[in-house]
Amino acid sequence: MYKSFYQLKSNPFNTSPDPRFLYMMPHTREALAGLEYGISARKGFIVLVGEVGTGKTTLLRRALGSFTKGRVFTSFIFNPRLEVLDFLEFVLSDFGITPTTRTKSGMLIQLNRWLIERFRQQETCVIVVDEAQNLSSELLEEIRLLTNLETSSEKLVQIILSGQPEFEDKLRQPELRQLRQRVSLWCRTKAITEEQTAAYIAQRLLIAGTSTPIFTPEAVLAIHRTSRGIPRVINLVCEHALIHGYVEQMAQIPESVILSVALELDLDTQPFSVAPNQGGLLTVGNESGRWDR
Ligand SMILES: Nc1ncnc2c1ncn2[C@@H]1O[C@H](COP(=O)(O)OP(=O)(O)OP(=O)(O)O)[C@@H](O)[C@H]1O
Ligand SMILES: [Mg+2]
Repeated sequence: MYKSFYQLKSNPFNTSPDPRFLYMMPHTREALAGLEYGISARKGFIVLVGEVGTGKTTLLRRALGSFTKGRVFTSFIFNPRLEVLDFLEFVLSDFGITPTTRTKSGMLIQLNRWLIERFRQQETCVIVVDEAQNLSSELLEEIRLLTNLETSSEKLVQIILSGQPEFEDKLRQPELRQLRQRVSLWCRTKAITEEQTAAYIAQRLLIAGTSTPIFTPEAVLAIHRTSRGIPRVINLVCEHALIHGYVEQMAQIPESVILSVALELDLDTQPFSVAPNQGGLLTVGNESGRWDR
């Protein structure tokens, strides 16, 4: 309803993980490069971690979309609360293989044969598990065993596990140390700074069709403060603010609107401090880079 008032062609602050809107910050660029490198260099296990709403799913979609179709085959598991057999069946059918049996060994043999054939054709296969914090330890162990599918020199399947910080905590548990040791790349998303928030908002508005600064500079600061720099929350606040602005017929949205939206959404309006800028891509063994509120 506010689109024509603000001369927008599309909704700028949709909360869906649309890679068209991806704004490249240094940590985004680094994490994206890490994912792309991990896949093309057949690095085996790759982990992507980040706070809720910081862009993991959006980044995964962008990374997978950057490969030529027909050279990279992907199985994308977005709800990993599955039993082992259902998981394997899902992977097979996502790769376009019709399971000829429902036994674990049968499906693994079928998968292995198919992966070897892809490898011979110099094609790459990737299994992406999003929301990995929901994986059971049993399924995590099965997934670890999938990386045993390899030739003498190369992994047959690349696996990306993407999850919220509690997933990283889970990987620290002693019984999962074998899996942790196999992670060859850690990629990270995180909350964004004040300047990044301003640029993020401006870019989303531009992609949606306007270069007019709809939010005053004070409003942008308030958006950053109330959202804690979390992109999904920024989108929510901006979307609500645009609706308010339209109802009040405001050409520019002031800080007061952001504060009342924040109250409506039950967000904290107090200033906050963030840990030094960390994130992007880390290699094995480096445990820093975790953003804590
Ligand atoms: N770098 C970015 N550029 C543009 N939009 C972004 C960026 N990061 C996040 N967003 C936007 O923020 C919203 C949330 O992103 P996304 O769903 O990818 O987060 P997530 O980390 O997967 O969250 P969850 O932990 O809940 O699964 C989406 O609308 C997404 O487009
Ligand atoms: Mg997600």
